[in-house]
Amino acid sequence: MNSQELVAQASEARRRAYAPYSHYKVGAALLGKSGKVYLGCNVENASYSHTVCAERTAVLKAVSEGETEFEAIAVVTKNGGSPCGACRQVLSEFAPELTVYIADQQGEFRKTTLSKLLPDSFTPAHLKADK
Ligand code: THU
Repeated sequence: MNSQELVAQASEARRRAYAPYSHYKVGAALLGKSGKVYLGCNVENASYSHTVCAERTAVLKAVSEGETEFEAIAVVTKNGGSPCGACRQVLSEFAPELTVYIADQQGEFRKTTLSKLLPDSFTPAHLKADK
């Protein structure tokens, strides 16, 4: 699975975005260490705050299917929007070193890492430390 293929899968997931309020469609494709890809789209709600982002949809699908280790995620929006803070935190729980491809609807993308997007994050280790 190369980066372009992962971006293409995220684009496909974006077609299923449910975004009748913002009209800002987002698709995500999360590559597990097993090689399996989990797709997600944003799912909005009339009670706006209950909207779930594409990235978190993908993570929740993966974890609920038993996969918790990840190589990369591709995220597609119309204009190359970056993953929100909540999604960065949720991804970081499982894959602090995740590779992140941020793409626009033309398929242009840039490569970064979750550790660059979310430096100095709160981690599971903090819950175990004595002080
Ligand atoms: N959205 C995502 O799906 N992922 C992000 O990382 C940022 C925002 C969605 C939420 C909402 O449905 C729409 O984009 C506009 O905020």
